[in-house]
Amino acid sequence: MTSYTLRKGNPDKTRADVVVVGVARNSKGPVVAAGGEPVAKAYGRRFSSLLASLGVTGKAGEVFRVPSGGAVTSPTLVLVGLGDLGRGSEKLTAEQVRRAAGVAARNVGNAASVALALPAADAAQVRAVADGFLTGSYVFHGSKAGVKKKPVAEVAILSEAARRKDCVEALATARVLAGAGDTARDWVNTPANLLWPAEFADRVRAIAGKRKNPAVAVTVLDEAELDELGCGGILGVGMGSDSPPRLVKLEYRPEGAEKHVALVGKGITYDSGGLTIKSGGSMATMKCDMAGAASVIAATYALAELAVPVAVTTYAPLAENMISGRAVRPGDVLRMYGGKTVEVMNTDAEGRLVLADALAMAAELDPDVIVEISTLTGPCVVALGDRIAGVFGDDETVAGVQAAAETTGELLWRLPVPEETREQIRTESKVADLLQHNWVRWGSALWAAAFLTEFVDGKPFVHLDVAGPAYNDRAPWGHVPSGGTGFGIPTIVEYVASLATRTEPADAQ
Ligand code: BES
Ligand code: ZN
Ligand code: MN
Repeated sequence: MTSYTLRKGNPDKTRADVVVVGVARNSKGPVVAAGGEPVAKAYGRRFSSLLASLGVTGKAGEVFRVPSGGAVTSPTLVLVGLGDLGRGSEKLTAEQVRRAAGVAARNVGNAASVALALPAADAAQVRAVADGFLTGSYVFHGSKAGVKKKPVAEVAILSEAARRKDCVEALATARVLAGAGDTARDWVNTPANLLWPAEFADRVRAIAGKRKNPAVAVTVLDEAELDELGCGGILGVGMGSDSPPRLVKLEYRPEGAEKHVALVGKGITYDSGGLTIKSGGSMATMKCDMAGAASVIAATYALAELAVPVAVTTYAPLAENMISGRAVRPGDVLRMYGGKTVEVMNTDAEGRLVLADALAMAAELDPDVIVEISTLTGPCVVALGDRIAGVFGDDETVAGVQAAAETTGELLWRLPVPEETREQIRTESKVADLLQHNWVRWGSALWAAAFLTEFVDGKPFVHLDVAGPAYNDRAPWGHVPSGGTGFGIPTIVEYVASLATRTEPADAQ
């Protein structure tokens, strides 16, 4: 376990094994970033020649580890690029700081102690430094043999504002969220032969027992209970697997809560595509298809740990999408929770089927808002790339989630739910109430979102399609590790917390 402290201190006099300094750039070239000035000063005129000889430009992602040779107390200096200083402003965005701190975390070598002399003048920047370093430090060892790198024992975030209450709280919040992220990332990275629906549910129960906060009640429904409730979507998708489906329900009921949020996350522990089978290559990373479930579950525990005064009910439908003599076929009709029937056209569009049951259950509770997150469609990745999530829903709820994402730095882009698509879904099946999929190649992420909208009973609703950003199958970048990323947890927590603080217009007396 790494200890984190927030303190005032001179970065040039710290005895930490490594001192991390940011380098930004303006039109003239690289400049030392706020927080690192005393280090530059200690080097004196040698600092700019050091940058020049190393080839430091201040570009984001850049990192250099150099012996300090006694110029500062710390034996090693790590220089991380922050990118461009905003035109006319000396302040970097929190996201630039978060990403640079993440890069630093992966480049401190075998240091036992690290001092971070990055921009940390206010709570948002302290949060960004902590988020970045904590998340950037994540590694999944899984079943890999060999020596594990020892984690850094002590990290000190140096800040002039170290004693400010909002800064102290920012560090505490960052730690809770990074813990939630680690939990979700571990689940996502665990291969599907080690994490099937019942096992996933057991692991959720196990963390429920471990957490300090006993405020979250866990219920797990098995296939017999799902059958009794009429959850045809979850059962239909799970039918082809030898590992039967589950539905995990979490309830967090803080005292004094005035708002109630329902969270829903797709939990396909493996997506082979079913009879509409995927090609070999696109199947390779499909253990990640429960990332939405992992995010809403981890977010719920984070909300409880942070004692956010909003009631939360979370549904994670868990199933494995496989092939067998019992598997659902294209052309089959399923009856969803609540009674709507659906004609299945593509067994690889399984997410919307398990979500239909969960969303209908969530809507029945009449929450103030439903937030749903899923690795739902490859077409969303085609539209937005693999670092940006699609966000769909009504204007007000989307605006609230977008505002939260501005704070957390997660990238969202709104996509529409066209009325004509909803109309097609309701009219194009000859044998069921709704058509799950049509084989038109265009706008499939929109069709999926429109299909989900049929199950929320007109409640305020936002759908996040995270098929791209939930799983990083390339190298780590910024604070984002390879594999499961935990995408969405910070934004969901921020959004739910914002509902608690939003003041209603006072009644005219
Ligand atoms: N789990 C996939 C979506 C996905 C794709 C997640 C890539 C992560 C990375 C989902 O179940 C799926 O197969 N979707 C279809 C959508 C299509 C039927 C409209 C797809 O991507 O082809
Ligand atoms: Zn899927
Ligand atoms: Mn699929």
